Amino acid sequence: TPRVFSGIQPSGDLHLGNYLGAIRRFVPLQDTHETLYCVVDMHAITVWQEPEALRRATREVAAAFIAAGIDPKRSIIFNQSQVAEHAELAWVFNCIARIGWMNRMTQFKDKAGKNSENVSLGLLAYPSLMAADILLYKATQVPVGDDQKQHLELTRDIAAKFNNDYAQTIKALGLGGDTGEFFPMTDPLIAGPATRIMSLRDGTKKMSKSDPSDQSRISLLDDADAIAKKIRRATTDPAELPETVEGLAGRPEADNLVGIYAALSDRSKPEVLAEFGGKGWGVFKPALADLAVSVLSPMSTRMRELLDDPETIDGVLRDGGARARAIAAPIMDEVRRIVGFVR
Ligand code: TYM
Repeated sequence: TPRVFSGIQPSGDLHLGNYLGAIRRFVPLQDTHETLYCVVDMHAITVWQEPEALRRATREVAAAFIAAGIDPKRSIIFNQSQVAEHAELAWVFNCIARIGWMNRMTQFKDKAGKNSENVSLGLLAYPSLMAADILLYKATQVPVGDDQKQHLELTRDIAAKFNNDYAQTIKALGLGGDTGEFFPMTDPLIAGPATRIMSLRDGTKKMSKSDPSDQSRISLLDDADAIAKKIRRATTDPAELPETVEGLAGRPEADNLVGIYAALSDRSKPEVLAEFGGKGWGVFKPALADLAVSVLSPMSTRMRELLDDPETIDGVLRDGGARARAIAAPIMDEVRRIVGFVR
């Protein structure tokens, strides 16, 4: 069975974009794939994190996984730092990837801003660690939101350059399978109506953990009241909902809210518009608020229960870490042989 890997950073409040673009889509993959879902704490520290806040956020992501329906028995839920091979493979990849590749990453440019001399070296090398996360398990399917697309292209570039640079030893050691490739090419799974959830305040900005306005995002720990209020106050244009998706063109706020409705109800945008086309926001927003509360409230209740018992969450992460390591260790061992490290 093909292997799935995806990761979420424990760096602040999880929001509706993380849920609809990623976590919710992780759940059904458990039925058809071997699944690893990782809390990427090593990625989080590329920007400063208070140690206690990092611990809390790590448990929060794990709780969100479980509350969303990821079964710690069927899936491997773990935090990145428990499997040291992530760092070890990332180092090898740091020596494969070129600085120019990293400098071209839009996420790096956005985060570094004009001050790129004064960000951590880890922030520049971030995509190299991400490639290591995936390739350490030879995972081929990676469900993510649209903003991770460029990083996944870089993962393929790194895999291809490794396979090519070491082609001779890979062949000599017989580690290239039928194709001669040691690392597989990863397919991004970016699909559905919610690959890019936008801010509730501004339909041209991505919903993000770092937006200073709390009103711009729905947090997975928001209560029913806060969820309903944020949706009621979401920015919209004055027109009614269109009958077709073409009618959403040039209307980013409307497009976003229809996409959220579709994702939360497992429907498509045309199906949602078949029901609400021609209706006004006074009808649509309350329906969306009810739907959001009905999906998110049970989840946040479950998350809170889980977070009351951090020992149990830590146990899940430890167990997942051991299972992840069992897959990673032999692959990392082959990498060491390929590269020429003496054992
Ligand atoms: P992170 O922690 O920023 O986001 C976690 C997941 O949520 C998705 N996402 C969104 N989807 C739709 N709309 C939005 N507004 C939105 N905001 C975030 C992200 O696309 C992501 O899928 N680099 C990754 C973490 C990572 C990773 C990996 C992912 C590290 N290693 C290996 C996959 C495979 C990140 O920063 O995600």
